[in-house]
Amino acid sequence: MELKEEIIRLKEEKNAVILSHNYQNAEIQEIADFIGDSLELARAAAKTKADIIVFCGVDFMAETAATLNPDKLVLIASRDARCPMAAQLPPERVREAKNKGYPFVIYVNTYAASKAEADICCTSANAAEIVESLDSETVMLGPDANLARFAARKSGKKVIAVPSHGYCYVHKVFRVEDIENARSKYPDAEIIVHPECDAEVQLAADFVGSTSQMYRYAEKSAAERIVVGTEVGLIERMRREIGKELGKEFIPLRHATCIEMKLNTLGKVYDVLLNEKNPVRIDEEIARRARRSIERMLEVV
Ligand code: 13P
Ligand code: SF4
Repeated sequence: MELKEEIIRLKEEKNAVILSHNYQNAEIQEIADFIGDSLELARAAAKTKADIIVFCGVDFMAETAATLNPDKLVLIASRDARCPMAAQLPPERVREAKNKGYPFVIYVNTYAASKAEADICCTSANAAEIVESLDSETVMLGPDANLARFAARKSGKKVIAVPSHGYCYVHKVFRVEDIENARSKYPDAEIIVHPECDAEVQLAADFVGSTSQMYRYAEKSAAERIVVGTEVGLIERMRREIGKELGKEFIPLRHATCIEMKLNTLGKVYDVLLNEKNPVRIDEEIARRARRSIERMLEVV
């Protein structure tokens, strides 16, 4: 039997659900029960009735699913799929920053131990709304400094980035010159980018949003050509799902690949589901405190 069919059969037999991030390769997205951005995946994990969640994304996403589901078995397709940004904000750094007395908004791209120290979580889809919801004109946000600046610009509040230069290596590759070149080459195109891109790149673009917000923007836009500044997995999804049907062309602002996201393969998903390998376990006390930060976010937006 073909690997895909075998995974689908196992999924039913074990009452498992496969959650996939927008950056996963097509072969993974095709067998997934749900594809989305970090916020949508957290919501999907929070409400699933399945006994097993197989997570196809990176470590912090699977940790979030496990934190929200202490009684379920959460498996990560690849143990090596570790987002380097998560390591940029260890729990001690959050604790130390909190001595300043401002609320700490923690980006979902962090480990549960760091979320446990923060006041509230945010994702790229809701950072500004989360900052706005807090009863303080100054807040701290980390580890992504570009997301902190984006949230400050959108909310009008002072947002202190902790650490001051946290970043995603995938989104650092985009330059304002890429946008200028795209504008002269494709004058009719719209340009959309992720909030992990540098502030100058964001300001030069037509729209800034999470991966799923970019997807929906592209679907609704009247433009026939859309230049996309994020990881290639989302662009390939847009081409497959929106491109053909709506006759739209998707052009990468520059080729950018997240090596860690691409470590998941169909073979690994099969092996992990069959043998219930790679369980994601979080210390109970850490999970309880991290859950508070995540649930507080889910209550806001
Ligand atoms: P989204 O939540 O926008 O999907 O972003 C996740 C991520 O890792 C971006 O690099
Ligand atoms: Fe982490 Fe960047 Fe990869 Fe997203 S794209 S998982 S932030 S390294």
